[in-house]
Amino acid sequence: MSKSIIPWIATDRVTSLLKELYADAAIKDPLARASASGIKPTGDDIPVFFKSMRKAYMAVGWEFGKLLYSLARTTHAKTIVEFGTSFGVSTIFLAAALRDNGGGKLITTEYDAEKSEQARRNLAATGLEEWVDFRVGDARESLTDSPDQIDMLFLDGAKELYIEVLKLLEPRFRSGSVIASDNTDHDGMESFLAYIQNPANGYISSAILTSGERGKAHEISIRH
Ligand SMILES: C[S@@+](CC[C@H](N)C(=O)[O-])C[C@H]1O[C@@H](n2cnc3c(N)ncnc32)[C@H](O)[C@@H]1O
Repeated sequence: MSKSIIPWIATDRVTSLLKELYADAAIKDPLARASASGIKPTGDDIPVFFKSMRKAYMAVGWEFGKLLYSLARTTHAKTIVEFGTSFGVSTIFLAAALRDNGGGKLITTEYDAEKSEQARRNLAATGLEEWVDFRVGDARESLTDSPDQIDMLFLDGAKELYIEVLKLLEPRFRSGSVIASDNTDHDGMESFLAYIQNPANGYISSAILTSGERGKAHEISIRH
């Protein structure tokens, strides 16, 4: 990178808002988790669980957020799809990468309309809103009209649905598209991991851990 370019991720506006959002999450997430205790995010309870977590961020940590940014930069991604917007923390990292790549579009999808609206306000506060197409509804429906080519997919919605969302978008991947998946140590991931870790299905996939935060198990997969 030329010395004269300041990566968008490092600007005061982005960094200060991310710090505010993480501070807010540190207060709200434990309260939401307490009220949702006993409800499992599996099977018919998936919408019930996420409704009870509508005040919770459940956001990627800093380390994984930076990795998402770096993956989008190294693959020169122009079209990114995100499953699970919540309040837009990961959306900020990904949109910042598009901005620094010189443009593109991030399609992000969220069940909860109020969360999506707040995410839109958060992206507007960073100046990154123009790179994002916010969609509300079940990802299995709201992503059916995705662009013909997808350079990067970030999976962070209901864990049991990763496999369905992956297969929905798979025909649109190119050689070198990257699929980043969060919380791969949660319940409901078995069929997804078995599929993406089998090279016969067209991916080279690595399980990774990031340090110092909740939900630190992830999978990084490249379409070959
Ligand atoms: C773990 S949070 C996403 C966190 C966000 N990626 C971040 O790092 O800030 C998961 C979000 O996915 C949403 N979600 C779960 N299943 C969904 C589905 N089938 N379609 C759309 N959104 C879904 C939930 O409402 C919740 O807000």
